[in-house]
Amino acid sequence: MANKIAVLPGDGIGPEVMDEALKVLHRTEEKFGFKLEIEKGLIGGAAIDAKGHPLPAETKELVLGVDAVLLGSIGGPKWDNLAPELTPELGGLLALRKLLNLYINLRPAVVYEELKESSPLSPKVLSGKVDLLTVRELAHGIYFGQPKGLTDEEAFDTMIYRKEEVEQIAHVAFQQAQRRRGKVTSVDKANVLSSSKLWRKVVIEVHKEYPDVSLEHMYVDNAAMQLMLNPLQFDVILTTNLFGDILSDESAAICGSLGMLPSASLGAKISLYEPAGGSAPDIAGQGKANPIAQILSLAMMLETSFGQADGASAIRKAVDKAIADGYRTGDIAKAGEEVLSTSRMGDVICSLI
Ligand code: IPM
Ligand code: MN
Repeated sequence: MANKIAVLPGDGIGPEVMDEALKVLHRTEEKFGFKLEIEKGLIGGAAIDAKGHPLPAETKELVLGVDAVLLGSIGGPKWDNLAPELTPELGGLLALRKLLNLYINLRPAVVYEELKESSPLSPKVLSGKVDLLTVRELAHGIYFGQPKGLTDEEAFDTMIYRKEEVEQIAHVAFQQAQRRRGKVTSVDKANVLSSSKLWRKVVIEVHKEYPDVSLEHMYVDNAAMQLMLNPLQFDVILTTNLFGDILSDESAAICGSLGMLPSASLGAKISLYEPAGGSAPDIAGQGKANPIAQILSLAMMLETSFGQADGASAIRKAVDKAIADGYRTGDIAKAGEEVLSTSRMGDVICSLI
């Protein structure tokens, strides 16, 4: 199974942004002389419609036989009212994360100089370059804790963390910080939650192995506020599944658009790469979506799973250049600026590689 990927476009804007990422992949392959074998599969609502399940057996088999998975996005109003385990979210994406034991989720967020005006934050707050990385625990916590229950009268989830689950993600965060600016902010709710009290204790313990990295702790409510007040203070944010979900959307908003941010979900062997944002059903199929998050997710895949650092860097440079040269999709355009379609933006980025 050399250099094989599964491509799962999914729902909403997933298929349109995926088309652009694949264009960029082919251009990069040509340029750098490598070739990935691609096999497409179904996930989410698209899989429910075609196969009756959000993660059909064929898709499971497919992803277990590849080196990496490139995913678009899943979900939409059409599939919201199914039984929880049959929704695109729980039955599709979360089941896939569990299947591949993807316990690490890396969500980098950078504010592009040229896009500062798209950020809701004032220029005063954005006086330097926001460049932070959320390291989100992805395979445990309240998303997966048992028991879970839902009746018309009562509903509950279980937020549970075991020592070794915290240890493994803490190591990742400290190692990422070593390659960056050497600071980890561990975000929890240790003033209230038992799972957070253990989280904090374990993070402090693991930190002893990384004396070159500084560690601070922040309650999640304060972290949400600090991201607005002073995002420049953050380097690596280490946090739980639920808090990481929330804070990574917030950091994406700071960057001006959820359509710009990639993510990598890593685990034992097979990794998954997907935009941090969702399926945006409101604009799906209209050629309005920003393909950059998907294209940068591809770059993360090439670098991390296939050792194609040069190809990845060429893609990132092409994206930077497209932004610097003023090419904009609707989400990042100012009033009066020309708005490119999804596929035009993909073409521009290809032409800059
Ligand atoms: C994300 C998404 C998912 C999550 C949903 C779609 C299950 O919001 O990747 O951030 O909550 O993890
Ligand atoms: Mn999310």
